[in-house]
Amino acid sequence: MGRDAADRLVWSLEQYGFVVAALAEAGPPEAQITALSAVLGLGDPYIPALYRYAEMKEYSASYSNIRSNPQDHHPGFSTTASQGWHVDGLLDKIGEIKTTILYCVRAAQQGGETLLFNSVAAFAELREEDPAAATALLSPDALKRRSTIPAMDMTSTGPAFSVDPDGNYITRYTDNDTCTWNFSADPVGALRAALDFLRAASEDPRYQRSVRLSPGQALIFRNDRMSHGRRSYKDTPGARRHLIRALYVNAPVSPS
Ligand SMILES: [Fe+2]
Repeated sequence: MGRDAADRLVWSLEQYGFVVAALAEAGPPEAQITALSAVLGLGDPYIPALYRYAEMKEYSASYSNIRSNPQDHHPGFSTTASQGWHVDGLLDKIGEIKTTILYCVRAAQQGGETLLFNSVAAFAELREEDPAAATALLSPDALKRRSTIPAMDMTSTGPAFSVDPDGNYITRYTDNDTCTWNFSADPVGALRAALDFLRAASEDPRYQRSVRLSPGQALIFRNDRMSHGRRSYKDTPGARRHLIRALYVNAPVSPS
């Protein structure tokens, strides 16, 4: 990939929070992802805190295979079910994992689109419309997430939104079965209003996009600025949908 192409990817990621890259190079998927991450200055893949436990060794690879597997009990990777809004890194602190790459080896027969919700942009609107509700989401104990992997009863509590050292808003907004919201967070009653707002915003085409990847395409998104999910899908028998995921603590930077 040339410098101009890489610059365009970085620009789109900064502007929109995500971009789809069609990778023309031949070679095995992991080599393609490695080349892409090198061009974007992402460094080595990051293993999320949850998968660094000894019991989670099977999920601790730098490149995670996401495909249906009835023998496996990972609630996200191994099913064809839809996935609610979340950020990657259930136990990691807000903003830790800045970039996610999803590389498509094989698409589903039907469905399987990745959904993107610009939760930081929706939060900016909420700050204007209802500052008290926005404040509740910044509370350090607003959102507890709990692992739903069998026998891994781990939790992590933190704000749903925060400000990074550069003054940019960041998110861990998640709305799925890993979540327990602290409705007593100050100001009382405001968190309910905040969630109502974000749930409506996540359905609003101004903030939501659907991406269906084709083989050889990679979706790159800012995991610290966007929330994401997935539509359910149907596999072609003998040719399962197959994505490969890699996570990075760095944000993409132009190679110049
Ligand atoms: Fe995810």
